[in-house]
Amino acid sequence: MEHDWIAILDYGSQVTQLIARRIREQKVYCEIIRFDTSAEELARRAPKGIILSGGPCSAPDDDSPKCDPAIFDLGIPILGICYGMQLIAHLMDGRVFSSSKREYGKAMIHITGNSLLFKGLEPDLQVWMSHGDKVEALPSGFEAVAESENCPFAAMQNTEKSIYGVQFHPEVVHTPQGAEMLWNFAFHICKCAGDWEMAKFIEETISRVRKQVGEDHVILGLSGGVDSSVVAALLHKAIGPQLHCVFVDNGLLRHREVSDVEDLFGNAFGIDLHVAKSGDVFLDQLKDITDPEEKRKIIGSTFIDIFAEKAEALGPIRFLAQGTLYPDVIESVSPIGGPSATIKSHHNVGGLPEHLNFELIEPLRELFKDEVRAVGRELGLPSYVVDRQPFPGPGLAVRIIGDITEERLEVLRQADLRVREEIMKMENHLDVWQYFAVLLPIQSVGVMGDDRTYENVIAVRAVHSRDGMTADWYKLPYDVMDNISNRIINEVRGVNRVVYDISSKPPATIEWE
Ligand code: XMP
Repeated sequence: MEHDWIAILDYGSQVTQLIARRIREQKVYCEIIRFDTSAEELARRAPKGIILSGGPCSAPDDDSPKCDPAIFDLGIPILGICYGMQLIAHLMDGRVFSSSKREYGKAMIHITGNSLLFKGLEPDLQVWMSHGDKVEALPSGFEAVAESENCPFAAMQNTEKSIYGVQFHPEVVHTPQGAEMLWNFAFHICKCAGDWEMAKFIEETISRVRKQVGEDHVILGLSGGVDSSVVAALLHKAIGPQLHCVFVDNGLLRHREVSDVEDLFGNAFGIDLHVAKSGDVFLDQLKDITDPEEKRKIIGSTFIDIFAEKAEALGPIRFLAQGTLYPDVIESVSPIGGPSATIKSHHNVGGLPEHLNFELIEPLRELFKDEVRAVGRELGLPSYVVDRQPFPGPGLAVRIIGDITEERLEVLRQADLRVREEIMKMENHLDVWQYFAVLLPIQSVGVMGDDRTYENVIAVRAVHSRDGMTADWYKLPYDVMDNISNRIINEVRGVNRVVYDISSKPPATIEWE
């Protein structure tokens, strides 16, 4: 690795990813790796520092996840957070008190010692605690540097070995000075350079991809979403005409979505773009299908058939590029494992026929979503691409409840366009995570002039979320709702009623199907 980095050993805390976010925000590259990565492997990869994350287990338990104790002798600075601190105490010669009584929530700590970790900070600090166990006796060579009402050892250090531990969580926002503590660790203790920047990432990725691809060719399924768009722009910069993009127009896209992709990637960027206009095939397959899971499965498999057909027609191609992101990669290193229940089958390019036999290129697999957006901006992609809201792979099909027909698709497209136009007029529209229209399978009575109407109902959905896993319905200003409703009812033929969805996730999901 050419730049300084910090290794985060993951013991299964819900917030391990936040440690990585906080470190990367300080322009220090970091990776979340397996909790039992050997000292030998770590010595070979030479991080400037090691962080042991929190986790739900109890360090003294025989079967709890442990680090290789030899990492304490590598001479690389170490910071243990919560479970990580207890692990240090347990594996060195300290003692951990196991308790089923949890301390959870805000607490105050008082700094009692001189520590680089707290350099520049006030002596009394608010922190976030979430632990049952705690360190009862420090290992030899360690001193306490902070205390709280419940924890005489809220933080400990051994400056000779450069090993530190904190009982609280510096990575969460409820520890307001936590980012500064992690900054102190990265810069004062690990002596990182802080040179991890998107421009540098682009440069390094381009030279790596060129080496990997050589004279061969790469195919990419472009969806118009942020991830595949950034992959397209990045690979185009790296290998130009050796990149071939396939855009499957499934007929289930929003207003102007197809022509926007053609204009930007085909015309402006000059990428070799192949648009498979397959709306008829999809609509045909979806005829009379109303079950949400069935819709998703049909769309997924039809997509794969069409993509594979296009790929074959393009001739033998060695590589398939994918927009895999870091959170997808992290799940596989946690000792606890990621969420297991499939609520909805998400569709991606996985499951291509084996005989196509692609080798994978995943240039974004080290990045978080906001870093992907930053790369996109650096590559000159417009805001309507990099700031785009998530859009489900099965497209408008999961926003039309019931039968999908060309006529119903057009009603939804027109209504959805008005929802988006009105919300985008709000100054803070980027705070709204996602907003769209849903076409319901019922009709309701209305009046128009002297006539009775019996027409469609549109539901408007707008949510606030951080990651799509949970969401709150967004409190849109009444005048915005008013404009949306008036415009849809006046301008979209076939709609006489608009309702607003006020359910949060859970228990509702963001999409209706
Ligand atoms: P739900 O409806 O499960 O959606 O609360 C969470 C987020 O995921 C998006 N979504 C999808 N994204 N393929 C995708 O790439 C899919 O099949 C899919 N289904 C839902 C949804 O728009 C929301 O942002």
